[in-house]
Amino acid sequence: MKRVLVVNYSQSGQLSDISARIVDPLRAAGHDVHVETLAPETPFPFPWPIVEFFDAFPECVQLDAPPLRALEVAADTTFDLVILTYQVWYLSPALPMTAFLKSEEGRKLIDGKPVITLVACRNMWLSAQETMKQLIAGAGGRLIDHLAFTDQGHPLATFITTPRWVWTGKKNSFLGLPPAGVSPEEIRQASRFGLALADGLNNDREKSGQPMLAGLRAVTVNARLAVSERAGRRAFGVWSKLVRLFGKRGQWRRRPVLLLFVVYLITLIVTVVPISLLLQWLFSPLLKPRLERLKAELEQPSGSQEFNLQKYAP
Ligand SMILES: Cc1cc2nc3c(=O)[nH]c(=O)nc-3n(C[C@H](O)[C@H](O)[C@H](O)COP(=O)(O)O)c2cc1C
Repeated sequence: MKRVLVVNYSQSGQLSDISARIVDPLRAAGHDVHVETLAPETPFPFPWPIVEFFDAFPECVQLDAPPLRALEVAADTTFDLVILTYQVWYLSPALPMTAFLKSEEGRKLIDGKPVITLVACRNMWLSAQETMKQLIAGAGGRLIDHLAFTDQGHPLATFITTPRWVWTGKKNSFLGLPPAGVSPEEIRQASRFGLALADGLNNDREKSGQPMLAGLRAVTVNARLAVSERAGRRAFGVWSKLVRLFGKRGQWRRRPVLLLFVVYLITLIVTVVPISLLLQWLFSPLLKPRLERLKAELEQPSGSQEFNLQKYAP
């Protein structure tokens, strides 16, 4: 029997549903799983009032997370494997996960441990995962696998459906667009990771330092989106510092600059993203080898291959 720590936080419950699909097969195989649900001292709202939604931006990007309530689990508990589940807020890990990874207790819990990251977000998780890698390595953890779940629907459709969901709580299909969030079928299929992990733990594979979840289509990177995301991340760095010069989270005096940021963000979404996608499409024969290299690199360590799908079919 192995001891597994799953760190979780979810506003709509979507990420908890995905985690449960992975935890159930582990428990069924006799492993001892502790699910630690992060609770910020002052809870974040859901659905998000629009001003609070944008006001969270600078602190997300600058990794300045408000404190969490004390963890249930003692920081000196030893686990064989740690699974960190998170969502992306402004191309960065959601603040509760940032708070965990920067806290003394969180760092202690992952020090020297094999770590798996699981993200569920609209579709832009690459920069957030870079941050996660740095925070995990900084705490002494060893990242061995990464799983990514993204919202159903075309990236242009989710520019509408995901914000509608987090601002109103409504997830249903509207204007002919698919419902918001990860598709129920993708969530159901997440059990394959639990089955493979149970098998891996039974065979001590978490100790090997090698991925345990390869061949299960753990991540699928769209390298074209990666190019837009990198540009966005750089701009977010500058804007977040600028807004913070005018005041703290919740203070009215930084709101005019936040409004400027929102205008900038909308302009970026309706101009730069489609233009960048169009240019990449036009030049795709020239860019193809570069984008393929980038895709393979960004899909590490678990990859998008499918050779184990049948073996661990739910
Ligand atoms: C403040 C905020 C910012 C977000 N920023 C991003 C983002 O930059 N990229 C992305 O793919 N999804 C983004 N999302 C969507 C979330 O990653 C996630 O899919 C959604 O909040 C549902 O998560 P839940 O499990 O907490 O319900 C954002 C959501 C919120 C609330």
